[in-house]
Amino acid sequence: MKISVLTIFPGMFDIIRNYGVIKKAIEKKLVEIDILNLRDYTTDKHKVTDKPSYGGENGMVMLAEPFYRFYDEYILSKNHKPYVVLPSPQGEVFNNDLAFELAKKEELVFFCGRYEGIDERVRKIVDKEVSIGDYVLTGGEIPTMVIIETLLRFLPGVIGSKTSVENDSFYNGLLDYSHYTKPQNFRGMQVPEILLSGDHERIRIFRKKDSLLKTILKRPDLFIKKELDEEEKKILVEIIQEMFNKNPDNFKESKDV
Ligand code: 6GU
Repeated sequence: MKISVLTIFPGMFDIIRNYGVIKKAIEKKLVEIDILNLRDYTTDKHKVTDKPSYGGENGMVMLAEPFYRFYDEYILSKNHKPYVVLPSPQGEVFNNDLAFELAKKEELVFFCGRYEGIDERVRKIVDKEVSIGDYVLTGGEIPTMVIIETLLRFLPGVIGSKTSVENDSFYNGLLDYSHYTKPQNFRGMQVPEILLSGDHERIRIFRKKDSLLKTILKRPDLFIKKELDEEEKKILVEIIQEMFNKNPDNFKESKDV
C-alpha cells in the first residue's frame, strides 16, 4: 500500500512514522508513507497556500490550486487516480468498518486542511470525506494520523497475529475481553483461574463471555446492533442464568414495567 499525505506541517507525521508498529510496517515495506509539503505545489514565489475567504467573513481558506497540482502530477506519473480522503468535520464518521474499507485501497491520498477549511472546489477530486467525531480540531493532520494508524492494523503482516486483530474491540461488534499478565496475585487481585488452566476451549468461551458482558455494560448501543451467533446466544443465556442465581430479586416482576 502507498499512502501520500499533503500537509503544510510535514513534521507532525514523525509521530506515526518513527514509532512502533507503523515504523516496523514501513521497514518491512508493507506500506510506503510519503509526507509531502503542500508548499512545494504552490505556484507563487512566496509559496502561499491560503488566502482570505470570499464573502466577507473572517479567516483564511486553503487554495485549491496546490491540491490540484499534486493530483494532476500524481495521475500523470502513474497513469491512474489515487483514492483521495479529505479529513473534515463534515465527513462520514470514521469507524472500524470504514478503516477496513480504506485498507483495501492500493493507493491512498490524504489532503490535510487548516484554518477555516479548504476551497470547496477541492471536493471535486475527493473520493471520501471523513470525520473522526463530533468535535472540531484545527487541522486534518491528527485525524489523518488516526485514520492511517487504524487502517494499517488491517494490513496483513502489520500486527503480529491475525487473531489479535480479530479479537480487538469492534472487529466483531464486541469490545475486547480483559487481559492479564504476571503476577498471578497483584495486590490481592487474582487472575481468573480459567486462564491458568491451559484448557483453550474453556478459555475461549470465558473470553467470549467477558466480551459480551463488557459490551452490554459499557456500550449497550453497540450490543443492540450486534447480531449474535448461536454460541453467543447460548453464552448470553448462561450470563442471565448466573445473574439470576446471584440475585433473583432483580428478576422479580416490577409494577412499573
Ligand atoms: Cl477529520 N478534521 C477536523 N479539522 N476536525 C475534526 C475532524 C476532522 N474530525 C472531527 N473533527
